[in-house]
Amino acid sequence: MESVESNATTGTDDAQAMFNKHLATYRKIVGENLMFHREVYALLRNQFSQGMPKPFSFLDIACGDAVASAAALEGSAIGQYYGIDLSPQSLELAKESLKDLPCPVDLRCRDFVEAMADWSDTVDLVWIGMSLHHLQPDGKVRLMKNVRDVLSRDGLFLIWEPTLVDGESREEHFDRFSAHRGAWATLTDDEFAAMEAHMRLADFPESADTWKAIGREAGFSEAEQIFLMPNRFGGVYQYRN
Ligand SMILES: C[S@@+](CC[C@H](N)C(=O)[O-])C[C@H]1O[C@@H](n2cnc3c(N)ncnc32)[C@H](O)[C@@H]1O
Repeated sequence: MESVESNATTGTDDAQAMFNKHLATYRKIVGENLMFHREVYALLRNQFSQGMPKPFSFLDIACGDAVASAAALEGSAIGQYYGIDLSPQSLELAKESLKDLPCPVDLRCRDFVEAMADWSDTVDLVWIGMSLHHLQPDGKVRLMKNVRDVLSRDGLFLIWEPTLVDGESREEHFDRFSAHRGAWATLTDDEFAAMEAHMRLADFPESADTWKAIGREAGFSEAEQIFLMPNRFGGVYQYRN
């Protein structure tokens, strides 16, 4: 059973063209494993196969097209999938990616901050892949508190987010990314420039210590880093009540 709940309006042709352009760039990035999707989603797959109740529920915050999540969930004891994303086009793609899951798929077209403020279902594993960093520090704490409130007793919260290396400022982080142009040769100059501009405008990475401290401030008793991307641009963090 699948449902897409939407409170967003359908985009215009221009918006659709822009979406297609961004999607094509993101798919190149994922396809070339430039952000280490393979390693990160292998971690998630491992988590699905060990230490989860059978069946378990999974909330994919900012799920996008859910291609990587769907692959990680294959063969798991998933009993309920929830996905939240602002983009109706992404959710249409997610619906297709998730169509073979042997469980209900509930896709909600909403801002995840709003969605989590009034979320009512209990969830065993909540995952945010590369999206929490758009919020300011107080918004990050509030979102984590809301996640904590919906987790089941032994539930787990995992995030994968941009990370400042020790002593690095936000500007230095973006400069380090710009200096990495050679490794991202698969992107055109326009695509790379658009990505840099988006990051400088909308990304608010934190240090590993701060990502852990935010979780503790939100009330989690355990907060640890379980993965660092080999290029040291981001990490995966795990929180438990
Ligand atoms: C970089 S993609 C990440 C996709 C996927 N989670 C992954 O790991 O590759 C970011 C996604 O977050 C969504 N997004 C960004 N801000 C959002 C918000 N405030 N509420 C809901 N979705 C949001 C975008 O539409 C996009 O699909």
